[in-house]
Amino acid sequence: MTATDFLDRRDADKTLGPATWGWRGRLRRWSGGLLKPAMGPKEQAFEADRAQIQKDFDGPRTIAFVNPKGGAAKTTGVLAAGFTFGTVRGGGVVAWDNNETRGTLGIRGSRSTHRNTTRELLEDLGRFKDVYQSRIGDLGAFVRSQGDAHFDVLASDERPDVTGVIHAKDFGEVHSLLERFYRILLVDTGNNLRAENWLAAAEAADLLVVTSTVREDTGYSGLWMLDALQDAGYENLKYKTVTVLSDPSPKVDEALARDLVAVYEQRTRGVYRIPYDPVLVAGGVIAYNQLSEATQRAWLRACAGMAAAL
Ligand SMILES: Nc1ncnc2c1ncn2[C@@H]1O[C@H](COP(=O)(O)OP(=O)(O)OP(=O)(O)O)[C@@H](O)[C@H]1O
Ligand SMILES: [Mg+2]
Repeated sequence: MTATDFLDRRDADKTLGPATWGWRGRLRRWSGGLLKPAMGPKEQAFEADRAQIQKDFDGPRTIAFVNPKGGAAKTTGVLAAGFTFGTVRGGGVVAWDNNETRGTLGIRGSRSTHRNTTRELLEDLGRFKDVYQSRIGDLGAFVRSQGDAHFDVLASDERPDVTGVIHAKDFGEVHSLLERFYRILLVDTGNNLRAENWLAAAEAADLLVVTSTVREDTGYSGLWMLDALQDAGYENLKYKTVTVLSDPSPKVDEALARDLVAVYEQRTRGVYRIPYDPVLVAGGVIAYNQLSEATQRAWLRACAGMAAAL
């Protein structure tokens, strides 16, 4: 095996898995690099999406997942994007639950030995004030490593006895801190467009991801939110927004899906479809390695679309 073959093989190892290589990739690998069919169109598209996700940005980037309707797949989307950006880029990614009330990101992500959240981080912000002394390792007391998914989760307040309002100033302080230590910040949001921390997230975001399931009410809520942002004077809204449309059941209303794709294509810069996946249904900790090949591929495409927009 030549040095180049060795590197080729190492690269192949870093892809999502055998199922995603296509027959050409599998043949290349199983023959130990002896047979090298040229990349087919599927494999080329796959590599192009990975390269797009791995691109260098000239600063940290914030992506906010938004839709004022509950069950619109915001939290699911943040976790799937965290897994995709985290594994393809090899880290540098944080998913932050910016819900004003108890969010579910902490419940659906892997647990940690600590139970600290945004609230405890806010109470302890002083220790990060000295930029020369504070270290990313110190954040380990507040964020929860997602293991093989290669991203961290900063959960929202989990104490039942606290109202836990996050003010715009609080958002700004945590955001600045995370920007110091991460390259990609994925922000989960709540359902109240008038909440200070919702508005602050929309303002701070380099990119908005409108998530929706193929349901009329959820699709409508996302459009209503875009109208509200437009009316509030947000500039370049179409340019800085993409849509992720997930199938909520194995049997999808294709006519509704077509209508939603058409209307969101008019309002945002791209629409990405995510298939139904039973692994995402239970609402517990997501077993990323059990996601179907189609789901993983769809998220790779969606995240490449996000990276291209950043
Ligand atoms: N691709 C998918 N396949 C199957 N089910 C899905 C998929 N995407 C989302 N779901 C389902 O949608 C449910 C609700 O999604 P999620 O909790 O992410 O919504 P949300 O917008 O964060 O809601 P809330 O505003 O209440 O926090 C998930 O628990 C899951 O059951
Ligand atoms: Mg949620």
